[in-house]
Amino acid sequence: MTFSSAKNDQQQNKLKAAHRALEFVESGMTIGLGSGTTATLWIDLLGERVREGRLSVRGVATSEASETLARSYGIPLITLEECDSLDLAVDGADEIAPGLSLIKGGGGKLLREKIVASSAKRFVVIADDSKIVERLGKFPLPVEVVPMALPLVCRSLRSLGFTPSLRKNPEGSRYITDEGNLLLDCSGLYIDDPPAMARELDSLVGVVEHGLFLGMAEQAIVANAEDIRIVRP
Ligand code: 5RP
Repeated sequence: MTFSSAKNDQQQNKLKAAHRALEFVESGMTIGLGSGTTATLWIDLLGERVREGRLSVRGVATSEASETLARSYGIPLITLEECDSLDLAVDGADEIAPGLSLIKGGGGKLLREKIVASSAKRFVVIADDSKIVERLGKFPLPVEVVPMALPLVCRSLRSLGFTPSLRKNPEGSRYITDEGNLLLDCSGLYIDDPPAMARELDSLVGVVEHGLFLGMAEQAIVANAEDIRIVRP
């Protein structure tokens, strides 16, 4: 199989998972719109139905890209201040481990994604099956850091066993998150006890948020070429 046909298959699998998530949607719902390539397919599917008048929903976007895409279909967007809670949030993931422990934030949007997922009555993950892992950590864990605290947080992450690497833009400048912070991609450590690691990271001064999403997803819809399976905690 060539690289481009493997990419194509992966895209098809993402689309299958996104399509299945439509069955959770009803008119009148307020929906959290995730970020990334899989979430983009989901917004496309939702948007087509809104544009054709088959669905009437409102959205809360987790990134500028998702916001622009949703607007292009005419999905009305609101802020979290304008609604009590979201009926549903749908988003992709970078790794999915047993118990539905997730790593997210590969696209750099983890803070807003975590806020939106936490605000939803139901949080559903959509993914192709390459995201399934036995334990988290092959994908570097993104950690969002207040710029001033960068040296302090780097030292703490190293003492936990990580190798933190400052995320850069393609042209070499520092990647700045939507909230004006920096991102450290933390590699070199398998996370055998995600809740314990989350507690460690939560306790670090200067860490705004990290990409461990634990106990949040109700289910993951995971597709491969043969089938679609539902993974539950
Ligand atoms: C962005 C995310 C994405 O959901 C995650 O990176 C998966 O992306 P993709 O669907 O492109 O594989 O967490 O911050």
